[in-house]
Amino acid sequence: MNQAKLKIGFIGAGAIHFGRPEVPWDHASRLEKIGGLEVIGIVDPDTRRSDEVLKDRLASPDYGHMYTNCRLLANYEELLAMNPDVVFIGSPPGYRGSPLGGKNIELEFTRAGIHAFVEKPLSVLPPEEFSTYACAVTEACRVNNIVLSVGYKFRYHAAILKMKELIAQHGGKVMAFNARYYFAYTEGINKYWFNSDISGGPIVEQATHFCDLARYICGEVDMSTLDTLLLNDSDEGEAGKLNHLSNQAEEDIPSCKRIPRVTLSHWRFQDGGLGTLMHSLTLPGSRYHVTFDVQLDGLQLSLIDPYGSSSILRVRSLEGGNPNQDQDLVFENDMYLRELDTFIIAVRQKKQSLIKSSYEDAMKTYEFTWAIRRQGEAKMK
Ligand SMILES: NC(=O)c1ccc[n+]([C@@H]2O[C@H](COP(=O)([O-])OP(=O)(O)OC[C@H]3O[C@@H](n4cnc5c(N)ncnc54)[C@H](O)[C@@H]3O)[C@@H](O)[C@H]2O)c1
Repeated sequence: MNQAKLKIGFIGAGAIHFGRPEVPWDHASRLEKIGGLEVIGIVDPDTRRSDEVLKDRLASPDYGHMYTNCRLLANYEELLAMNPDVVFIGSPPGYRGSPLGGKNIELEFTRAGIHAFVEKPLSVLPPEEFSTYACAVTEACRVNNIVLSVGYKFRYHAAILKMKELIAQHGGKVMAFNARYYFAYTEGINKYWFNSDISGGPIVEQATHFCDLARYICGEVDMSTLDTLLLNDSDEGEAGKLNHLSNQAEEDIPSCKRIPRVTLSHWRFQDGGLGTLMHSLTLPGSRYHVTFDVQLDGLQLSLIDPYGSSSILRVRSLEGGNPNQDQDLVFENDMYLRELDTFIIAVRQKKQSLIKSSYEDAMKTYEFTWAIRRQGEAKMK
């Protein structure tokens, strides 16, 4: 049966929506594969960027037709007035996720009855300034029967779904969760990322995916147990100096306001197990190093290269053979495609229950990331 085309609009013409050579994300290319969609507008104040992106997409022999009626817009109000069925909100978080007029984008679209896919992090405001707004967005979705998904794509990763299945089969509680996110910083610099007023800083903006996974896999965190250490540019001993930054990433930011070079945090889950997170800006190049381990009594699960097009879930278990040997399960994975496919199906069926990351749930991850950040910053004063 032929379904009516959904009219969609993008807010932000950056990498999350339209890709960049060095990154695996590019929502438009997955939406093109999903099909049944028509792009009616792209909002970006950088019209040179949006013009470039649109020309590129129009040139595609297979998918150019999806963009023939697309308009380039300088602000989101113009897109709102065009009344799309769905909006993708992927501008940096400093320009959205706020009750202030001009930044209350999620609320304006959901109140107008438009389904929304919103990128992480939800905001850059301290959670206590943001929570009333977050509740208003959740309420607008409920009242208008709107589907809203937040871009925590790892919740759709085939290996992570397998990991959850193995944990449930094991039947025991998680004893330890250990995530490492080593950012490669010497190439492909995105300047906004180095300004925590616009990005939220490395934990709120980037390691947020692993804070979200900690909650998704192990349950809620007992915030009173949280502790964090930071290594900063301004620290005595100068271990936090970075000598290979390109693109003048931090030239206009005073040393004391530069983002942490290393963040080390640990906590106890409400279920009793322990969690740790280490984020660093140290690696050369543009390829991140990301892994995490989950340990239960007699079972270890390690996810290796979760951003890769194929990732390894390394299992060491008491079951099935030699307990000294790792078993590698390889997953061909396009978590972005699965995430967006689920979202479009949910929109067509008006079923929020299909979505693995709601605004309300993402708010809890947001609070967790801010707690990590604040614990570290408090020790600097
Ligand atoms: N879920 C994921 O895997 C993932 C991956 C990358 C980025 N992200 C998120 O996507 C968001 C954007 O990141 P990016 O990598 O695309 O950044 P980017 O710098 O590549 O692009 C951001 C774009 O937003 C535009 N912009 C700035 N202010 C705007 C406004 N008021 N309205 C509309 N557009 C505006 C900029 O001109 C720029 O073109 C961030 O929140 C980031 O955390 C998510």
